[in-house]
Amino acid sequence: MSDDFTFGAPEPHGPLRTFHPRRATLGPARREALERLWPTLGFSVHGTGDGPLDRRALFGRDAPLVLEIGSGMGEAVAAMAAADPGRDYLAVEAHLPGIANLLLLVEAAGLTNVRVAHGDALELLRHRVPEGSLDAIHVFFPDPWPKKRHHKRRIVQPDHVALMRSRLAVGGVLHVATDWAPYAEVVLEVLAADPGLENPHGGPAPRPAHRPVTSFERRGLDLGHEITDVVVRRVA
Ligand SMILES: C[S@@+](CC[C@H](N)C(=O)[O-])C[C@H]1O[C@@H](n2cnc3c(N)ncnc32)[C@H](O)[C@@H]1O
Repeated sequence: MSDDFTFGAPEPHGPLRTFHPRRATLGPARREALERLWPTLGFSVHGTGDGPLDRRALFGRDAPLVLEIGSGMGEAVAAMAAADPGRDYLAVEAHLPGIANLLLLVEAAGLTNVRVAHGDALELLRHRVPEGSLDAIHVFFPDPWPKKRHHKRRIVQPDHVALMRSRLAVGGVLHVATDWAPYAEVVLEVLAADPGLENPHGGPAPRPAHRPVTSFERRGLDLGHEITDVVVRRVA
């Protein structure tokens, strides 16, 4: 694991980011958590040794690997990893305070199967994650980018989905959840159009019991938004 973590602005990104640029303000507890836990649990997408991830070095074993893209404050990945100790979980998030919060959750629960990457998930997938290597990819409540001129920033679009699919093992699962109904339609369409993915539900999936409610989802529910889960499988 790299120890090249630096506080401050995210790594350099291309002009079409799928996340909102935000200044990272870290309170003392999160700053302290980063300083203490980052060296063993975290790495930068742009870190040293830019080659494929060494999973054995990262987790100390070769268990099936789940990637959570845009883990936010980390509630979902921490809870799912705790309930699923036989698999390893890698969370990738561009927003530093969320990473610090996840590190605190991991420490509090004594989890050994979670690691965190700071930076752009798309770059991680392109440059660090080998083809066919993931058991599942979770994309929970991705930024909906509701304005039409921003749609090109959505993470669920055909070329990104083709990239995600290529990193899944055959039989691996891509699970997207959203509280934004127009985005849910797009997610269903884009995943259905990918020839290497199959939707066993033929439409939205019943809410999987193993996906915990995050604070982001709670906000959506409070606003009366309907939650849609889409769960597809790589078949080719
Ligand atoms: C709306 S929030 C949802 C967070 C969390 N999944 C939840 O359910 O509470 C979306 C998150 O995805 C992150 N994000 C968006 N695009 C990303 C990317 N390309 N790489 C890493 N993180 C990304 C954002 O920083 C943000 O924290």
